[in-house]
Amino acid sequence: MLVVYDSLTGCGKEFAKDLGQPTQSVLKRLDQPCILVTRNSGLGQIPWTTKRFIKKYAPLIRGFVMNGDQKRYPKTFCGATDKIREQYGLHHICNIHRSGDEKDRTFVKEWLMANILD
Ligand SMILES: Cc1cc2nc3c(=O)[nH]c(=O)nc-3n(C[C@H](O)[C@H](O)[C@H](O)COP(=O)(O)O)c2cc1C
Repeated sequence: MLVVYDSLTGCGKEFAKDLGQPTQSVLKRLDQPCILVTRNSGLGQIPWTTKRFIKKYAPLIRGFVMNGDQKRYPKTFCGATDKIREQYGLHHICNIHRSGDEKDRTFVKEWLMANILD
């Protein structure tokens, strides 16, 4: 399944690439089902690029991974997750710290395997 990333400094893009699936930027046109790897902006806010993407393509988004920074923003770590769930009702796969770790990659790869025939 396609992995779409909204990544400013490259952490989310790196995580997306490591999943071993085709990837593309949130700025590109979408024409197939995908999962979204996104980030926080302004203390647990949803980036406007992610909002625009969700509004346009929600029916094609099977789930999302949120990348945040636990060390810099411990109080609002991945705060945008609840906002996306509440405002758009998307399925939340997991939160990761920056580019994630091996455990995160395994978890999301297994999720993709379980949902790839969807
Ligand atoms: C202005 C600003 C505010 C941020 N606020 C939060 C936050 O509240 N919680 C959080 O977990 N990460 C926060 N972050 C971290 C972003 O989620 C971080 O930039 C991201 O993990 C890196 O992703 P990227 O390299 O894919 O752009 C913030 C980053 C910026 C620049």
